[in-house]
Amino acid sequence: MPSLPARSYEEYETIFAEVEAPFAFVDLDAMTANAGEMLTRVGAKPIRVASKSLRCRGLLERILHSDPGFEGLMTFTLPETLWLAEHGFENLLLAYPTADANALSELALRSVANPEGAPIVMVDCVDHLDAIESVLGAGAAPVRVCIDLDASWWALGGRVKLGPKRSPVHTVEQAVQLAREIERRPQLTPAALMAYEGQIAGVGDRPPGQRLRGGAIRFMQRRSAAELAERRAAVVAAIREIAALPIVNGGGTGSLELTAAEECVTEVTAGSGFYAPALFDHYSRFALTPAAGFALPIVRKPTANVATALGGGYLASGGGDSARLPVPWLPRGLRLDPEEGAGEVQTPLLGAAAAQLSIGDRVYLRHAKAGELCERFDVLHLVEGGAVVDAVPTYRGEGKTFL
Ligand SMILES: Cc1ncc(COP(=O)(O)O)c(C=O)c1O
Repeated sequence: MPSLPARSYEEYETIFAEVEAPFAFVDLDAMTANAGEMLTRVGAKPIRVASKSLRCRGLLERILHSDPGFEGLMTFTLPETLWLAEHGFENLLLAYPTADANALSELALRSVANPEGAPIVMVDCVDHLDAIESVLGAGAAPVRVCIDLDASWWALGGRVKLGPKRSPVHTVEQAVQLAREIERRPQLTPAALMAYEGQIAGVGDRPPGQRLRGGAIRFMQRRSAAELAERRAAVVAAIREIAALPIVNGGGTGSLELTAAEECVTEVTAGSGFYAPALFDHYSRFALTPAAGFALPIVRKPTANVATALGGGYLASGGGDSARLPVPWLPRGLRLDPEEGAGEVQTPLLGAAAAQLSIGDRVYLRHAKAGELCERFDVLHLVEGGAVVDAVPTYRGEGKTFL
């Protein structure tokens, strides 16, 4: 059960009486409950907040100030990272490699000004190291880098590889080789190791209506977690023979308690769990409260039993299956039309509740993923204690569409 019951349609309708749809919102009471739930799952280890899953500076600030258990940000592009640094955010770890020479030059300047506090950038091969070094002048301070360790699970003797296809660094030997290469270069410092187990953290183990698949996912996740725990510990121990490696990052919303339990892990990452988008409804190990949504106006009634909303085609990135579609949320009893899904300009809604809806009414939907909602709206209306308490710009609302 989620730690806080979600609000009803009638409650949100009262709360948003003065707001014109379409609009997006975050329910701070639900978000706070989710934050507390995640802190409980990780115990004493700090949570680094994944900016890609929030994409709203105001909310990132709120979360970081809300509890000392939230420490630093995991960012997603170097221009974004530098922009956040300019706005005073500290302890930034860029989780994806960059080939942006201009931004790297700016990072080099920042590293001179504050070598210990400048953002850490991700590397997984010698080309990444060369790209960073190529922008550093002779007098530049060392740039701190993070080694990205592949966390995928190799089954059947390596013939099946399950997990995100990211870093080529998989074995202890490969990780040590890259760490040595970093150590050899005086202008680079190996400051961190990250291994993101997307096949555990980002895959719900209780897919609705698919019991067999759920069983297979749980089996895969158990085996993968055991394999990774051993390998991650061995990699960290081997690199620490060469360098201090103060940060060992792993995990995501879906794996917090598993990743945090590994002794070698110094911090875990979470982002999606604050908003609790629809894809995070299907995990057996935790229950979150839906905290982010968007409202659309009903503008048509093609038949008495169908209510058509304006817009709504906000699809999530990923595998391209129906789980990437937004999910009708409130009033309860609505579903998408399998023929039309969620459309660029309009979304027909079916189900028992559709017959009760008239032109001018509103419906509430949830995005399948977290941060992508903010690429559709300039502003998030913030709800607390049953009222709209603020409206904060999203990244897009600040004119920033990093990805
Ligand atoms: C490197 C990395 N760490 C952690 C996460 C977990 O983020 P979230 O908690 O939003 O699922 C992700 C998500 O893709 C990621 O790419």
